[in-house]
Amino acid sequence: MLARLYEWFDSRLKLKPLEQTLLNEPIPGGASWNYVYGSATLFLFGLQVLSGMLLMVYYVPSTDHAYDTVRFIQDEVWGGWFIRGLHHWGASAVIMLVGLHMLQVFFDGSYKKPREMMWIVGVILLTLMLGFGFTGYLLPWDQNAYWATQVGINMVGATPIVGDFLTKFLRGGETLGALTLSRFFAIHVAFLPALIIVGIALHLFILRRVGPAGPHDEAKAKKGSETFHPRQVYMDSVVMLGVFVVVSMLTILIELPLADRADPSDHSFIPVPEWYFLFHYQLLKYAPGALGPLATWLLPTLFFAALFLLPFWDRNPGRNPASRPITLAVGMGFLITVFVLLGFSLKQLYAVPKKDPAIDRGLGLTVQFGCKTCHRIHGEGGNLAPDLSFVADRRPDRAWHIQHFKDPKSVSPGSFMPTFPLNDKQLNDLTSYVLTLKSGATH
Ligand code: HEC
Repeated sequence: MLARLYEWFDSRLKLKPLEQTLLNEPIPGGASWNYVYGSATLFLFGLQVLSGMLLMVYYVPSTDHAYDTVRFIQDEVWGGWFIRGLHHWGASAVIMLVGLHMLQVFFDGSYKKPREMMWIVGVILLTLMLGFGFTGYLLPWDQNAYWATQVGINMVGATPIVGDFLTKFLRGGETLGALTLSRFFAIHVAFLPALIIVGIALHLFILRRVGPAGPHDEAKAKKGSETFHPRQVYMDSVVMLGVFVVVSMLTILIELPLADRADPSDHSFIPVPEWYFLFHYQLLKYAPGALGPLATWLLPTLFFAALFLLPFWDRNPGRNPASRPITLAVGMGFLITVFVLLGFSLKQLYAVPKKDPAIDRGLGLTVQFGCKTCHRIHGEGGNLAPDLSFVADRRPDRAWHIQHFKDPKSVSPGSFMPTFPLNDKQLNDLTSYVLTLKSGATH
């Protein structure tokens, strides 16, 4: 049946030569698990396109609706949480696989003549990927999105000469707002995809013109080659499936955060950037005074310049790692620095004291007793009574709250806040929760 169908199409479209080109590309030295990173990245990119298209069905890129539509996707749309999770974790996985892909190419010296162009297009693809990450982060329009983007744009603004222009260009106005969101959306779903598809096509075109590099070990390479089909196709497929399983597991096991709705007036919010920007963020903490701006723009500029120039700077034709000690030492030095900084950064992030379970029980009590019918907390609730978002700033005293809950009038004469039927444990839980409502707290 399938064979006859194929015959039917083949007799009209002449598919055989196409099949030859697609599947019979020779790989010097044979198929290898070392060569799976590129195709796994391509697979993840496809997954991003698909999940992104599905998210666009409900997402509305306006400051009035972005947050609510993301909430709606997360909580109401059938399978919406899964698609959003795939898109979120997929984005991280792309960065990780691009990193592995580049490391493999770096250690094997595959960027050397005649593959310089492929490397350069690859570096451009990396910057486009980071662009996707940066523009995508703003789209949910929650506190983290808003303030992390604010920090990011300020960092770009630190660049001399072009800084001002870039800031205005990214923001679309004097402040981060509706115009920024629309243009980040346009960049994320139209401009970057168009550019990256051209880039990927070019990357693959060059690959087919110069051929895969094969192993750095000449003796191994001479052993003869093997076609792309079937073994490399098999290895690539296994890894793609594995990547999909991992991304799905992350989606299922880890609940995706969505912070409070973006509040441009709340300058106390401390944003956390994506993990792949964390090492740079950490580095900036160590840069004293005047060196700060320099570390902000000069280091990334130097880093990308070094990447672009690598094939021209390192022209020693030997690809064997043993014959390239300096290049590899520089590469290793960079990697170690990145991971050490990332480690410090994560350690500081998680040094935030573990959440006391009493706080969650207290939060539950506020729902049970309908505190928000009168009080507003982080943008939600009534306005019959004081806004509690930062109540612990003005009332840090536990005893005061306990007394207040027992009998509001005793500490606040004339109060119409009701006395709720709370036992001692509940009084404590509720107070523990109320004391977390202070500026700079992240939850
Ligand atoms: C019927 C409306 C109403 C409800 C429901 C209500 N409160 Fe109040 N609350 C008030 C009013 C009015 C005040 C201001 C007077 C006072 O301090 O008692 C107040 C004050 C407070 C304060 C002190 C605020 C400040 O700025 O000093 C806290 C804390 C507080 N409420 C917590 C709660 C919690 C927790 C709940 C739910 C268990 C709750 N309230 C439910 C009306 C209400």
